[in-house]
Amino acid sequence: MHRTHTCGELSIADLGKEVILAGWVQKSRDLGGMTFIDVRDRYGITQLTFNADDNDAMRAQARELGREFVIKVSGTVIERSSKNLKIPTGEVEIKVSSLEILNAAKLPPFLIEDETDGGDDLRMKYRYLDLRRNPVRNNLVLRHKMAQEVRKYLDGMEFIEVETPVLIKSTPEGARDFVVPSRMNPGEFYALPQSPQTFKQLLMVSGFDRYFQIVKCFRDEDLRADRQPEFTQIDCEMAFIEQEDILNVFEGLIRTLFKNVKGVDLVEVPRMTYADAMRLYGSDKPDTRFGMQFVELNDVVKGKGFPIFDNAELVVGINAKGAAEYTRKQLDELTDFIKRPQIGATGLIYMRHNTDGSLKSSVDKFYSEDELKKWSAAFSTEPGDLVLIMAGGTDKVRKQLNELRLEMGTRLGLRDKNTFAPLWVIDFPLLEWDEDTQRFHAMHHPFTSPKPEDIALLDTNPGEVRANAYDMVVNGIEIGGGSIRIHDRTLQALMFKHLGFSKEEAQKQFGFLMDAFEFGAPPHGGIAFGFDRLCSIFAGLDSIRDVIAFPKNNSGRDVMIDSPSTIADEQLAELKIRTTI
Ligand code: AMO
Repeated sequence: MHRTHTCGELSIADLGKEVILAGWVQKSRDLGGMTFIDVRDRYGITQLTFNADDNDAMRAQARELGREFVIKVSGTVIERSSKNLKIPTGEVEIKVSSLEILNAAKLPPFLIEDETDGGDDLRMKYRYLDLRRNPVRNNLVLRHKMAQEVRKYLDGMEFIEVETPVLIKSTPEGARDFVVPSRMNPGEFYALPQSPQTFKQLLMVSGFDRYFQIVKCFRDEDLRADRQPEFTQIDCEMAFIEQEDILNVFEGLIRTLFKNVKGVDLVEVPRMTYADAMRLYGSDKPDTRFGMQFVELNDVVKGKGFPIFDNAELVVGINAKGAAEYTRKQLDELTDFIKRPQIGATGLIYMRHNTDGSLKSSVDKFYSEDELKKWSAAFSTEPGDLVLIMAGGTDKVRKQLNELRLEMGTRLGLRDKNTFAPLWVIDFPLLEWDEDTQRFHAMHHPFTSPKPEDIALLDTNPGEVRANAYDMVVNGIEIGGGSIRIHDRTLQALMFKHLGFSKEEAQKQFGFLMDAFEFGAPPHGGIAFGFDRLCSIFAGLDSIRDVIAFPKNNSGRDVMIDSPSTIADEQLAELKIRTTI
């Protein structure tokens, strides 16, 4: 028998018991007469003692144990003389009667402790050692717990988990596909799914009614803290529903997760239209943990001879409450921040509402104190507030002010990781104009249905057509998105036409779906949550990498297994990718 107990469970109630433990050496201390070894496993740490009465060979062996050796010991549970009340096993220790080394270990390249000295690259190369550390393992335990809760909730709501294929053909979710050559069909390729979108719709045609899958998706896109080339979705679809049903069922899922995993009672999830989100926050994923909503100033500031405002399509600002004391240097920092190429703004205008009640702006030459009173009224400022204003083309300036708002939120400590502000963003536009290709793209995906009352606009003003599409946002992060689908062949064909597909192209790529719509497709819709993002928010982390057991780095590489890698010429030849060896 390798063990009778884990390293995390013995307590004062077990005094006198003969036990067997197995695990890794966390650390050893040799105090002359006594040797103490901490042995660790997934469940905790238990202290082992060896003393002068023990046989010499065993003591010598104990002294030689290095970090991370795998050992097995037998012994008696005794009370510790100096207790450690910080850990559950801290009142007892094991007086060892036999010690066996199951496997020696090289010195690990970094400390296997909560605070480690290993840099990112090193920890990723030896990820299996990193995973021994409590904080990293705890993230995966949390992920496991969340997956169980998701399954429990959806199972309780009659959802059926169905696996869909991984070797498929391109699904248009907007990113590049990863492709896999087919040996049996030379010159042809499978694509890995960017999502199971078309399959889940087909399952609705098949009558499954409610489907879900916790599923790997693959997208060849630029990586960021919240993007991995392979990631996991909680993918869901329902038939015979309307948007309202979807919002309710999945608000329930998120609420249940917060309650059962984090003990947080969410109040109702508010809803905001895309148009309002852009107008009030300059973003379709506003961080609503704090207010600081945009205030539009065209009516207040134009016509006073200040060309930057007079020539701008939109003058818009925020009230950073309590920041009037910002020094010149801090304001310069903010200006530098918005002028960075990633943001690309040209300048920042400010107005201080000083604690003595006076108003002072950076454009005093153009605006008298009486004029500034109008600014103050527009922002409802109070003494101590700082107003920050930007001007320019509407879309651009909103995006730029969004960055500044988030930066101010961070600087003013308004983005607490333990506060959760979920939000539904609804009524997304159906189409978005793409400057590069000079045509419209589906904002969500081509299977999303337009709002019936907007269909007529498709021909006259396509950019104005709204979709039955929705995102769930938590703390400024898009954690999920979905839509009510088109379930009618004619409308689907019309959509492809507006997206620039010829009839033949549409039939070649998506004929299978349009054909299916002719065999009794029920009205349906769904959503997919980014499971990694959800886990990282629950864990209070900034990057989804930390909730993935074996993630890729920012260049899309797995540095542990050294992938991607070249393959043998024989393999290439067999795949008909290279014809000569
Ligand atoms: P969408 O493309 O919005 O919708 O994806 C759903 C959610 O998946 C997460 N996500 C990612 N997470 C990590 N790394 C990535 N590269 C990545 N890309 C997306 C986001 C996002 O909200 N088929 C539709 C869903 C539907 O219509 O039902 C879809 O995939 O959290």
